Amino acid sequence: MKKMLKKLDLIQKLAESGNLTDCELKALLQSEDDDSQLFKAADKVRREVYSDEVYIRGLIEFTNYCKNNCYYCGIRCSNKNAVRYRLDREDILECCREGYRLGFRTFVLQGGEDPYYTDEIICDIVSSIRELYPDCAITLSIGEKPKASYKAYFDAGANRYLLRHETANEEHYGKLHPASMSLKNRKQCLYNLKDIGYQVGSGFMVGSPYQTVDNLIQDLRFLQDLQPDMIGIGPYITHKDTPFAEYENGSLAMTLRLISILRLMFPYALIPSTTALGTIDTQGRELGLKAGANVVMPNLSPVKVRKLYSLYENKICTGEEAAQCRGCLERRVESAGYRIVTAIGNVKKGCKKAKTV
Ligand code: 5AD
Ligand code: FES
Repeated sequence: MKKMLKKLDLIQKLAESGNLTDCELKALLQSEDDDSQLFKAADKVRREVYSDEVYIRGLIEFTNYCKNNCYYCGIRCSNKNAVRYRLDREDILECCREGYRLGFRTFVLQGGEDPYYTDEIICDIVSSIRELYPDCAITLSIGEKPKASYKAYFDAGANRYLLRHETANEEHYGKLHPASMSLKNRKQCLYNLKDIGYQVGSGFMVGSPYQTVDNLIQDLRFLQDLQPDMIGIGPYITHKDTPFAEYENGSLAMTLRLISILRLMFPYALIPSTTALGTIDTQGRELGLKAGANVVMPNLSPVKVRKLYSLYENKICTGEEAAQCRGCLERRVESAGYRIVTAIGNVKKGCKKAKTV
């Protein structure tokens, strides 16, 4: 049998070739040694491609109604303790107006799967934003829809879509979701979105109940097949009003390790340092950036609804105005050694695969 490479050799191989065997990935994921060399290698690649730039996306959480019942999520339909809200078109446009003033050029409209927002309503919202902000990217994150709906939103002016696959293992998917949902459909949605021409974001939770290291490797393999533009990961965080209330949170260390592995496997990917990461550790988002992430997504939702969009407990940034959140992140990004850029830019000059970010 071939002898297993040492950790440093694994990191070097991953950095040079962008890939490892399953066995090698497993060794890297399970290693108990310190990860500073891994972070260093990931940061080197991120700086080669993206310099010290960090991109911002303004998140507008416009509805916490959801017809689904995912076992991990605080806004699942059977959580009767959730106080529900919806924002209308004017509320959303007001968030965009403030966001634009603060320098945001990407708006992310995220919500539960809420049938109140018919395709017609979504298209109306999207086309209003498109008309007012022709220079901005519009990202939707509203779950699984028929391909024709995705196409209609695209034609109305949406150009990006975020849909985490959550886990690429059938059995694990079945332990996180009721039988009404399927991994097959979720994957199909992602391929449909790509086919229509969206820039696509996917990803998974780290440390979700029943997750194994093999599941994580399957997540990485699925992402290699999908080749998304953005990859969002964050630790699983418990919520008391879910069937998973008793399960532990995912770990900071494992999330950071995976961010670095993702950066080395996908040098060009947009990788957010997520709110969930900032929630499990006060320095989580800074550490995420240092491990290879290059996007932050401050909250643009009206303060009055922020606490209600409660996917998990103790979510940060729920008391701050958009401008405060923006300022806070600017300082945090700088303290980590990076720089927020607001215009829609390109990857570092001289890079073969220059791509709009
Ligand atoms: N902990 C962490 N992340 C969660 N999400 C949903 N519930 C939780 C939780 N309890 C993530 C899912 C979803 C994204 C919007 O938030 O990955 O895709
Ligand atoms: Fe929202 Fe710090 S990023 S308050």
